[in-house]
Amino acid sequence: MSEHSHSANAQFHDPAHAAEFDRRAAVSDIRGQLAERLIEAMALRGDETVLDVATGTGRFARPVSGCLAGGSVVGIDPALAMLRVSRDSDADPIPRYGRVAATAERMPLREGIFDCAWVAFSLHHFVSATDMVREAGRVLKPGGRLFILDPIIAAADDALDAAVNSLINDVFQRSHGAGFRFFAQEEIRRLMTDGGMEVVRDDLHTYPVDQDGTDGIPTGRHWIEVMDELEHRPPELKARFQERYFRYERTGDQVHLSGGFHFGLVAGEKRPGAD
Ligand SMILES: C[S@@+](CC[C@H](N)C(=O)[O-])C[C@H]1O[C@@H](n2cnc3c(N)ncnc32)[C@H](O)[C@@H]1O
Repeated sequence: MSEHSHSANAQFHDPAHAAEFDRRAAVSDIRGQLAERLIEAMALRGDETVLDVATGTGRFARPVSGCLAGGSVVGIDPALAMLRVSRDSDADPIPRYGRVAATAERMPLREGIFDCAWVAFSLHHFVSATDMVREAGRVLKPGGRLFILDPIIAAADDALDAAVNSLINDVFQRSHGAGFRFFAQEEIRRLMTDGGMEVVRDDLHTYPVDQDGTDGIPTGRHWIEVMDELEHRPPELKARFQERYFRYERTGDQVHLSGGFHFGLVAGEKRPGAD
């Protein structure tokens, strides 16, 4: 058992999990398309200093660094196992890319040095998303932008919606620790404004799915556990889940999914004069 086994996000400290994460990430069309949307939104000139918060194995850092002719990408992440996967790609290193082993809530970085920052597929893992936004704001230059890209849950309109969302988060917490939670898009906007950023972009990207199994769907396999759990809950919960999220049909061990997966891309700008 590793020293991290009981801590939140222990799986990212496991080299086998890190390698498996990277393998799945490499073949996900949805992630590839979202990387393109993120890069379009960042509209880099090519000489910026850019921060990748929770860089993982560098799957987003690589295409972003490809947009730079000067400047650099700094990736921070506390999981050495994840950082080592990108280091191990020595045959094809990510250009202009440096890695720092640290958490997003307390970045060992000087203030006001980054033109731009992003956090992809990681907001739901942070111990404190509020502290992450505050820290990102501290290290950004005035006018610098923070982009948050994450799977989002539906905003709860009533108690049934709230019960569905709570079940989803409970299931994901079993594998990812008690701090795990998905955000609704409006909650991400609020995180930005509460952190002193002005929301300058607020995109919703929906990817239709009609497939057997969850390959290629970010966070995919845990949705199977959500469906398993719904089988033991009142039928109205399952019905509301299918209305708000996606439909599924089981045949033996197979599950067929149809519907849409939703991802929020929200950008906040550090107001000139803000700390
Ligand atoms: C699902 S991976 C995403 C990695 C990368 N952004 C990508 O999309 O390929 C989540 C990452 O968040 C990192 N992480 C978890 N908690 C963190 C924290 N408090 N501060 C910074 N990174 C964290 C994990 O170590 C892991 O590498």
